[in-house]
Amino acid sequence: MTTSSGSLLITGARLADGTSTDLYISDGVLADPASAPAGVERIDADGVLALPGLVDLHTHLRQPGREDAETVASGTAAAARGGYTCVHAMANTDPVTDTAEAAEYVQALGERDGHCQVRVVGAVTRGLGGAELAELGLMAASSAGVRVFSDDGRCVDDSLVMRRALTYVKSFDGVVAQHSQDPRLAGPGACCHESEYSGRLGLPGWPSQAESVIVARDVQLAELTGSRLHVCHVSTAESVDVVRWAKARGIRVTAEVTPHHLLLDTPLVSDYDTTFKVNPPLRTAEHLEAVREGLADGTIDSVGTDHAPHARQDKDHPFDVALPGMLGLEQALAVVVDVMVNTGRMDWPTLVERMSAAPARIGRVVGQGRPLVVGEPANLVLVDPSARGVVDGAASASRARNNPYHGRDLPDPVVATIWKGGVTYRR
Ligand code: DOR
Repeated sequence: MTTSSGSLLITGARLADGTSTDLYISDGVLADPASAPAGVERIDADGVLALPGLVDLHTHLRQPGREDAETVASGTAAAARGGYTCVHAMANTDPVTDTAEAAEYVQALGERDGHCQVRVVGAVTRGLGGAELAELGLMAASSAGVRVFSDDGRCVDDSLVMRRALTYVKSFDGVVAQHSQDPRLAGPGACCHESEYSGRLGLPGWPSQAESVIVARDVQLAELTGSRLHVCHVSTAESVDVVRWAKARGIRVTAEVTPHHLLLDTPLVSDYDTTFKVNPPLRTAEHLEAVREGLADGTIDSVGTDHAPHARQDKDHPFDVALPGMLGLEQALAVVVDVMVNTGRMDWPTLVERMSAAPARIGRVVGQGRPLVVGEPANLVLVDPSARGVVDGAASASRARNNPYHGRDLPDPVVATIWKGGVTYRR
């Protein structure tokens, strides 16, 4: 679903590598600017960066089942505002995406209502129950062509089930995206990073090792099976160390960090504001520093938003009862620009790698995360690196309002998003 299509000439844009260029879009594909007809619609991109459209491996669109919190239409509109041209719809919907039919249903919703490409994530286990494998092969072979499998929201904590899932997805080049949370060390009630804060606030603690012990187990299972593991929302220094070790050993592991684990820290929960309740929880400064370093040096391959919209009635509860999760799609680029680029930790080509090329590769998505050269699909985002503003959560395209950046002064980089040659967002 786009607001315009056909031909478009973007003049004077700067690419991530600093070179200047005109970009001509014809029939959804990048074409030779010299072939643009006179009078073609133009966007003057002087002072603006043109980057490949962003790709998210971790989006909760909530449809089917919780359309009061988000729909494919509203979630992908938020994605377009954030510069995304592709998102992966997580499987913890109602019903769970654990069959070929369910995967094809979400795929069809994406084709009908999407303001960007929607790739379907299949559940690893039936009903996210953790015991029996879901229809992994059938989902892969379905018209949804599922390649990413995740019980996100829950950890596949049974080692044998995890081993079998890794073994199975290897046959069709799939990847298991794990929500790493040891259910004994961080049980269902755990909702605050285990620290002086959890003690002082009286909130059940979630130690950082509850994440890293699962990451350590899973990289060994990935080695055992020779299969691909993706670690969702890495939030701790210990997990970064384990992934670094595993990569040095040649294990096929990739990882993501969320924008909120890059920017937001544990003290934000001191007022019991449930907007800041998220799983894994916001961590302390030393962990933020470690995930930033991991993202800069490539130990963490990608940024995944974990965009988790919730209806107000699910957040308006005591802290330990409210549902965990926060919005992420609209401010993800802003956060990465502020934390990583504006501080000199990361250059623009590396940002493109982490937010577009790597997630497209991990998800085996064709035609996304590609360089902006003639012949490639016209999936791109125009970025003003110097624009800033105070985030107004009420102006979100999402149906939900659990925006942790509301009221913050942040970059406001997205000028326009173009998917398949059509403008899906323009400021
Ligand atoms: O905070 C979270 N919310 N973490 C998850 O892993 C799941 C997500 C959700 O679905 O709301």
